[in-house]
Amino acid sequence: MKDFTVRHCGPIRHSISVPGDKSISHRSAMFASLAKGRSIITGFLESEDCLSTINAMRELGARIEQTGPGTFVIEGCGGKFTAPNQNVDCGNSGTTMRLISGILAAQPFRSRLVGDASLSKRPMGRVINPLTEMGGRFSSEEGHPPLVIEGGALRPICYEMPVASAQVKSAILLAGLFARGETSVIEPAACRDHTERMLQEFGVNLELGEADANGRRRIALSGPQTLTARDFAVPGDISSAAFWLVAAAAKEGSDIMIESVGLNPTRTGIITVLQRMGAKIEITPLNGQRAEPLGDVRVTGGRLQGTLIGGSEIPNVIDELPVLAVAGALAQGTTIIRNAKELRVKETDRIAAVARNLRLMGAHVTETEDGMIIEGGHPLHGARLECFGDHRIAMAFSIAGLFAKGETVIENVDCVATSYPTFGSTLETVLLT
Ligand code: S3P
Repeated sequence: MKDFTVRHCGPIRHSISVPGDKSISHRSAMFASLAKGRSIITGFLESEDCLSTINAMRELGARIEQTGPGTFVIEGCGGKFTAPNQNVDCGNSGTTMRLISGILAAQPFRSRLVGDASLSKRPMGRVINPLTEMGGRFSSEEGHPPLVIEGGALRPICYEMPVASAQVKSAILLAGLFARGETSVIEPAACRDHTERMLQEFGVNLELGEADANGRRRIALSGPQTLTARDFAVPGDISSAAFWLVAAAAKEGSDIMIESVGLNPTRTGIITVLQRMGAKIEITPLNGQRAEPLGDVRVTGGRLQGTLIGGSEIPNVIDELPVLAVAGALAQGTTIIRNAKELRVKETDRIAAVARNLRLMGAHVTETEDGMIIEGGHPLHGARLECFGDHRIAMAFSIAGLFAKGETVIENVDCVATSYPTFGSTLETVLLT
């Protein structure tokens, strides 16, 4: 197991490109495998999580060939998968397990989905309940993986989601493709809409309702519908860019350019929050894939102010909250994160992990049930930190280490390969400045 050793660095002046978006890569592999015909996916994120999806799709009968870095040619099954010969291994990936559950609930065979130790502790009831209502048959140990799915004919439902989860929304819409009649989902607040955009790109008819002030809206589709193969270019991952955005925004004299980053408005909360904290960010939109906007993002460093992050903004920054908490510790004044209880059921309990590590570095943090209160501006010092097998904790605290006095060691960071396998080499480049 590898550690990262990080020390204080000077202003960061670099052009950085980040790998493909994780959420979009998962969906591109699944939807191309579901579709009729051949799709070519480029810019695919070759991280452990997304490769779990590729392997799962292969296990279910899709023919997938890698023809270059990040390029996969996928011959889809036209909606009809074949029974797997072994467990479908989702590794560490909640997205793989939850989205595939929606597809497998409708396939006329038995499958068993397994995950690693972290995934095996994560709640699956949130997909099992609505998919059972649709007629899927699931068995699990109290809503945790492994999941055994006896798929078959499904009926449509209208489902009001108790949590704003893109994974739950996607699982239901994917199941709805196979159910005769109209399946609808109501999301309580806007959460990432890559599934809606990409399904439309693959030829599915969707009805997108008007969002209210919080982003609450209804999404519906009438089944059965089949996807048609499409070539798809995956943009850079704003959740990976987030680490460098925070590092540059909080370090006086920094000037970084991040090229070709996905700028889907359900994901750009990190930019809005950093701007509210006083960061100087310029965006140059690029012409890319019709379905997913993208652009170059330039950040120049300065002093940050504390802020309040909560309410309907939370789903938009859910994966960026660990590094935003680090930004809060570096800022002047108080940063409050609230309504973020979902963080407790991510790859680790991210509220506990972030609060613990920030405190070990000398920050003043109070943990709350659904977030934390950070009294910013107290100088950080180096520490030996655990990342609890969670990629985003490992990367967020590598960024904190760039601001701390002395050396920070983040132990057992192999988990960064889950979402950002090249993070360590970019970190080394930054440390050499
Ligand atoms: C994801 C949705 C979010 C996010 C996760 C990826 C997706 O999870 O945290 O990293 O690709 O749909 P929830 O749906 O649980 O909020």
